[in-house]
Amino acid sequence: MGKIDSPRSQSDLTWDYSDPVNGPTIPAPFFFDPQIFAEEKQRIFMHCWHLVGHVNEFAEPGNYVVQDIFEQSVVVTAGADGRIHAWHNVCRHRGNRLMTQRRGKVGGVLRCQYHSWCYNLDGGLRSAPRTEHLACFSKEDHSLRKVRHEVFAGWVFVTLDDAAPPVAEMAAGAEAEMRRFLPDLDNVVLVEETDVIVDANWKVIQENSIEGYHFDLSGPVHKELAALIDFKGYTLTAHDRWWTYIGPPNPNATHAYGEPLEGATWQTDWFFNIGLWPNTTFYSFPYTDMIGTFIMIPLGPEKSLLRFGYYAPKGRPVPAVTKAAIEWMNTQLGPEDIELNVTNQKGLHSMGFGSGRYLIDENLPNQSEHLVHHFHKLCYQAIRE
Ligand code: FES
Ligand SMILES: [Fe+2]
Repeated sequence: MGKIDSPRSQSDLTWDYSDPVNGPTIPAPFFFDPQIFAEEKQRIFMHCWHLVGHVNEFAEPGNYVVQDIFEQSVVVTAGADGRIHAWHNVCRHRGNRLMTQRRGKVGGVLRCQYHSWCYNLDGGLRSAPRTEHLACFSKEDHSLRKVRHEVFAGWVFVTLDDAAPPVAEMAAGAEAEMRRFLPDLDNVVLVEETDVIVDANWKVIQENSIEGYHFDLSGPVHKELAALIDFKGYTLTAHDRWWTYIGPPNPNATHAYGEPLEGATWQTDWFFNIGLWPNTTFYSFPYTDMIGTFIMIPLGPEKSLLRFGYYAPKGRPVPAVTKAAIEWMNTQLGPEDIELNVTNQKGLHSMGFGSGRYLIDENLPNQSEHLVHHFHKLCYQAIRE
């Protein structure tokens, strides 16, 4: 077991994770060391599945969504045949980035704005000005290059690793759990997407979201959330490469997010969260008719893009409670956590810290940090073992 009561060398990049209850937390440099970050990029993010969006975002031919993965970029399109395709988002002429917006809709082609090479929605090169003057040039040799994609529980994922196990295999059992709490999983459309740059390592953001210890101990908005659920029943469960943290409703709640509950409709009155390795979360706030996505996208050792997606059932109006919850997440709960992420990130550099301690206690299951240990272990194993 590592020492936990004295600062350790900031260059010590090993961790004994064998005793979650009595042992130390993963050492602080794992949250800012550039070498660790480079290893995470190569060993985690170049091989994992990345959430792009919901299948309903690809309902019409020409719809596209761009997903950046570090310096790589993938464009996912709805083909003329109605099928979803994923391509490396780069022109085969001289390597110009093809689509530059996060999402949009094109007529029939993806057009490069440099020399106007145009690609069909199925990736084939349709036209390339003046190439008829070239000897030995064939359009067939210059199609967009495919990226592997999958649809899991109604959501589109891509990976840069052709050998990665399918999402359904990596997260066996997760879809059933999602369908239990999110009955409109197949029927939702994007309402809003909010991107926030956070000066914190992606794991600092993740670990904050997967423990209930700080709920009734940090800021006032967290206490509001804790009051909406029967907090004693909050349960955090690890299943290898996916995890859930779920709270039953507080039966006495009459209002939520400043709105009366009377007449509201919801996906679930539970606080439902499910995380998929490494950085995708789906959730629903109690009494809201929406599915939220929460993705921490690493930009640098101490910079992340936090992407909040809000999806609501197609064809019925978004209830006032749900609208209020989205606003509350964007302006209250989110910022309260982000402030903690940033102060946590700063503190991790301190010479007065090296490793800490997990609050893991089976008598306090709703507040226990066992999921944080589980997640840290997965990260450590991915880059070090
Ligand atoms: S780089 Fe795309 S057309 Fe030239
Ligand atoms: Fe929080």
